Amino acid sequence: MASHRVAVVGGDGIGPEVIEQGLRVIDAAGVSLETVAYQLGGARYLEDGTVLPDSVLEEWRELDAIYLGAVGAPGVPPGVIERGLLLKMRFDLDLYINHRPFKLAANGSNPGHEFVVVRENTEGAYAGEGGFLKKGTPDEIATQGSVNTRKGAERAIRYAFELATGRKNHLTLVHKTNVLTFSGDLWQRAFNEVAEEFPSVDTAYSHVDAACIYFVQDPQRYDVIVTDNLFGDILTDLGGAVSGGIGLAASANLNPPRTGPSMFEPVHGSAPDIAGQGKANPIAAIASGAMMLEFLGEAEAAARIAEACDACVDLTGSTSEIGAAVSSKLQGPQ
Ligand code: NAI
Ligand code: MG
Repeated sequence: MASHRVAVVGGDGIGPEVIEQGLRVIDAAGVSLETVAYQLGGARYLEDGTVLPDSVLEEWRELDAIYLGAVGAPGVPPGVIERGLLLKMRFDLDLYINHRPFKLAANGSNPGHEFVVVRENTEGAYAGEGGFLKKGTPDEIATQGSVNTRKGAERAIRYAFELATGRKNHLTLVHKTNVLTFSGDLWQRAFNEVAEEFPSVDTAYSHVDAACIYFVQDPQRYDVIVTDNLFGDILTDLGGAVSGGIGLAASANLNPPRTGPSMFEPVHGSAPDIAGQGKANPIAAIASGAMMLEFLGEAEAAARIAEACDACVDLTGSTSEIGAAVSSKLQGPQ
């Protein structure tokens, strides 16, 4: 069997706890990974100031994937880990797609429903454009621009159209084109032009504020959504909340042309409030592991893990009890 070389960053708080279960489940599914562990995150920064050295990024470029728990610890100034580790990884490895699937369980007369948010992952308000004038004075000014390149919007949109083609042929652009008339216009034009290459895909548009209402009241209207970095960040936390909780939401940070590794992580953070207590739900991390296997060409094992996760979403128990329950569904004849 082919072995896949994977960097494992447990990170902080509940990160290592959920990643341990993710690796256990991958093992139970019979897939062998060659893992390299990296101690990075808030705790490491507080220890010796290390965030994400370029030498580590160079090592990662040679690997197939990165499997990350969560990073961030109390006592670390805002931005150090977010910009220095998570965003640096996304930007330097060109992980330009953040692919986040959501599953709503059937509930009374409501049938179950699945949808995917494709979030542009390298630009927008997160690009770091901006600065201060007269900082710390009463006349202080801060600007934070949104950087939107035609290439960046278009490649995210094209990925979403390709994804929609393999699903229900339905794609919704989410933005705020009525107010953000520059970036929104670029996104809308790129969307309309790429749409011409995919005549079989029906298209729709929601303003981001309306999308928040529909996520709660009528998520069935969506199959694939494409949106920018900031709207996608906020919308996918809401997606997690309406589809069984943040403990279930998985994500992939993809470099689709595979010029380097892609990164797989749960949507949630390091949850310092429950760290070390065995209370973290590992399903999001396990499901992210399944997305990683699928990307690595292990589609059959990925599908079995995803199915086992579905069967365990209502389980209560400790982190390791839930990991054991998912693993036990994978044993037996394959
Ligand atoms: P969070 O996602 O860590 O926690 C929010 C709430 O959800 C908490 O009440 C937590 O207990 C709960 N929760 C999260 N994951 C859970 C799980 N698997 N099972 C059960 N409950 C769960 O977000 P928060 O509190 O805003 O951030 C905490 C730290 O994590 C911060 O340092 C933040 O910067 C970092 N963070 C890191 C991310 C990453 O590594 N990609 C993403 C989001 C936050
Ligand atoms: Mg977020």
